[in-house]
Amino acid sequence: MPSSGRAGLPVRPSEMTGREDSRYQLAPRAKLPLPRLAEMKRNGERIVMVTAYDAPGARFAEDAGVDVVLVGDTAAMVVLGHEGTTVPVTMEEMLFLTRTVARTATRPLVVGDMPFGSYHVSDEDAVRNAIRFIKEAEADVVKLEGAGPSLSRVSAIVSAGIGVMGHVGLTPQSETILGGFKTQGRTASKARQLLSDALALEAAGCFAVVLEAVPVPVAARITEALTVPTIGIGAGAACDGQVLVYHDLLGLTEGRAPRFVKRYANLAEEIRRALTTYA
Ligand code: KIV
Repeated sequence: MPSSGRAGLPVRPSEMTGREDSRYQLAPRAKLPLPRLAEMKRNGERIVMVTAYDAPGARFAEDAGVDVVLVGDTAAMVVLGHEGTTVPVTMEEMLFLTRTVARTATRPLVVGDMPFGSYHVSDEDAVRNAIRFIKEAEADVVKLEGAGPSLSRVSAIVSAGIGVMGHVGLTPQSETILGGFKTQGRTASKARQLLSDALALEAAGCFAVVLEAVPVPVAARITEALTVPTIGIGAGAACDGQVLVYHDLLGLTEGRAPRFVKRYANLAEEIRRALTTYA
């Protein structure tokens, strides 16, 4: 008899617990083991990542078979109403949102995105805040932006036993310094710098690196050079996985979206129509 997990979806053989034959106990889906991401890269299997900020988003992502759910600091813009910046979101807000996702997503790895200011002062501060994501919000791992000064933060957090996802290219927390939300690594020397930043993040212990708004050939070169997976957003198809912001891909954000965003639905219109009908 085929086993089923939450929502009646099939449980993959690797996720079976041996209790699937009970009619009364639906087996919880097993958490995707972190080393599986590197294995997916080696096997050429695509990694699917999406952001989520609440329990319904986490449930939809899980049921769709998403591998990694990022509770992104884009929450500042798409959930909390800050215009065009991720900087204002606080640790407390990120912990609150991450908790709602982590309590719902069973199989996908839940990544807590460290907000601006939570890892910028010292390694010790970074470790303390990363621990809060794991202990208080039950994230599986954390993500932080940049290389350079972030490298010692990555090593310190990894030494504390917490997985870290890196993020280079367009790093929105430093948008002012970068001169806006624009493609990074367009000159040969900037492309070389991006490659060496990504390699340094891998050496510091990152289990994966997000490449945001990076020219396609540069992302392809970085992906080839790294043994850990790259997750692209506006970085082309050669990356080992892709990530999109939930609200962008579902058409919940209105106004101009980045050029690379592919909209799979137009939920803003649907919601407006439904609410107008109701009202
Ligand atoms: O915060 C976020 O949503 C992100 C993704 C765009 C990668 O960092």
